[in-house]
Amino acid sequence: MRVVSVTAPGGPENLIVADAPTPEPKPGEVLIAVAAAGVNRADLLQRQGYYPPPPGTSEVIGLEVAGTIAALGDGVDGWALGDPCVALLAGGGYAEYVVVPSGQVIAPPDGVDLITAAGLIEVAATVVSNFDHVHLAAGETVLIHGGTGGIGSFAIQYARALGARVLTTAGSPAKLELCREFGADVAIDYHDDWAAAVAEATGGAGVDVILDVMGAKYLEANVAALALDGRLVVIGLQGGRKGTLDLNRLLTKRATVTATSLRFRPTAQKAAICAAVAQRVWPLIAAGAIRPAPETRFALDEVARAHTQLESGDNIGKVVLVV
Ligand SMILES: NC(=O)c1ccc[n+]([C@@H]2O[C@H](COP(=O)([O-])OP(=O)(O)OC[C@H]3O[C@@H](n4cnc5c(N)ncnc54)[C@H](OP(=O)(O)O)[C@@H]3O)[C@@H](O)[C@H]2O)c1
Repeated sequence: MRVVSVTAPGGPENLIVADAPTPEPKPGEVLIAVAAAGVNRADLLQRQGYYPPPPGTSEVIGLEVAGTIAALGDGVDGWALGDPCVALLAGGGYAEYVVVPSGQVIAPPDGVDLITAAGLIEVAATVVSNFDHVHLAAGETVLIHGGTGGIGSFAIQYARALGARVLTTAGSPAKLELCREFGADVAIDYHDDWAAAVAEATGGAGVDVILDVMGAKYLEANVAALALDGRLVVIGLQGGRKGTLDLNRLLTKRATVTATSLRFRPTAQKAAICAAVAQRVWPLIAAGAIRPAPETRFALDEVARAHTQLESGDNIGKVVLVV
């Protein structure tokens, strides 16, 4: 089968399409014939050598795919050959075939083609698991950084569907407008004093929950922007990993700072998250309450261009490799 291989850690030019043996499913796994693979920011880090896959998983890049069931390992029920599916992976997605524990495989949402579906499960699983983690509830206010990214565009819509008030940040007037189209109540240019804008939009009270992709760079301002009993969940470190945490501010607000990673969760946790996505998110997509963000499509042998596109910061929504 054809797979994407990294010749040496470095730039997108180090991505090549190579031949590799087609994997075989072990007990409890399925083999998927990949129709398309989602491209994620973590993939860029893995290409550069900074984000190795969990031990025992594929060295091939790629955290999510959509396709059809091509073979079943022993003990797998509920799937037939040829069934359409999407899968959350620890790796291996940039390939014609991938094996994955069956709990991490679900049917695509109704009415969504397989190419678009390939870019849905990683963001849906990330957002659902993190909003669950910090107990985002109807009537609360949430701040979502990066409202037109893969994560942000989904998070805005899901938070709205949960009944939350949504504040978001983005980096250009066109992206701010798109955030409003996704359903954000307030869209703030992050080049401005976004913390002051959050304070103004909340009458000085702050926000109940923050979903953060910036890490260190925003840590102090994020904690300052939290309301009493507020919860900050960090899922990305685009602004660095080591910041200053004012514990007195945390203490007086009874606030929580937490951080999570989806990729390194055990299989059972990923299976539970996938089940939650199928049960709670897919019906929202089928009903039109959540619109999949636009995706930019590339063929598998255009993988270097796909990485350059995501790396540019100009992309809106998802980047998808059509296999
Ligand atoms: N922990 C996990 O389990 C997990 C899972 C999935 C993703 N992630 C992480 O989540 C992050 C976002 O992923 P993605 O797929 O949405 O990537 P993406 O589509 O490339 O989006 C990146 C986002 O970051 C925003 N951003 C850049 N600089 C910013 C700033 N100074 N202030 C606020 N926002 C800023 C961008 O906004 P503009 O376009 O407006 O500049 C864009 O919306 C990545 O770091 C990724 O690694 C973590």
